[in-house]
Amino acid sequence: MGQLAIVYATLTRNSKKIAEAMEKTLGVKAENVSTSPVLGEVDLLYIVGGIYGGKSLPSLMKFVKTLDPARVKRAVLVTSCARKQRQDGVRMLLQEKGIEVLEEILCPGSFLFLSYGHPNEGDIQRTADSAARLAEMG
Ligand SMILES: Cc1cc2nc3c(=O)[nH]c(=O)nc-3n(C[C@H](O)[C@H](O)[C@H](O)COP(=O)(O)O)c2cc1C
Repeated sequence: MGQLAIVYATLTRNSKKIAEAMEKTLGVKAENVSTSPVLGEVDLLYIVGGIYGGKSLPSLMKFVKTLDPARVKRAVLVTSCARKQRQDGVRMLLQEKGIEVLEEILCPGSFLFLSYGHPNEGDIQRTADSAARLAEMG
């Protein structure tokens, strides 16, 4: 796999922890969308985010809308949520742009008592390992 990039949006820091574990495993800086990261040419972009009332954070949606399909080839969604929901809004925006979604990796998060205690260290490491395997597959 060529050039990798990691972006994340977070409300309660789970996505930040996941993105930082991926940063270590992949050796690529994880950037918070709140800092308006400017991407170069990217072969595989990891988009890390939670689900809130069934949706992604508006800041993440806004960032994804700015992506240039001439520069970003493919994406992997890394989704942290309590109920195995997915980043469908983000996926739809990517599809509209013609950016292929290679895979969606789910990492347990929590909401009130639902999935309480997650993501734990094991969840986070498993997610980072899955992300790294996709990069190796190319
Ligand atoms: C206000 C709020 C609403 C949430 N709504 C959902 C939801 O609709 N579905 C779900 O699966 N998880 C839901 N969750 C759980 C989060 O998606 C999960 O904890 C995720 O890890 C949060 O990511 P973050 O810490 O990066 O913000 C919600 C969490 C919060 C705080």
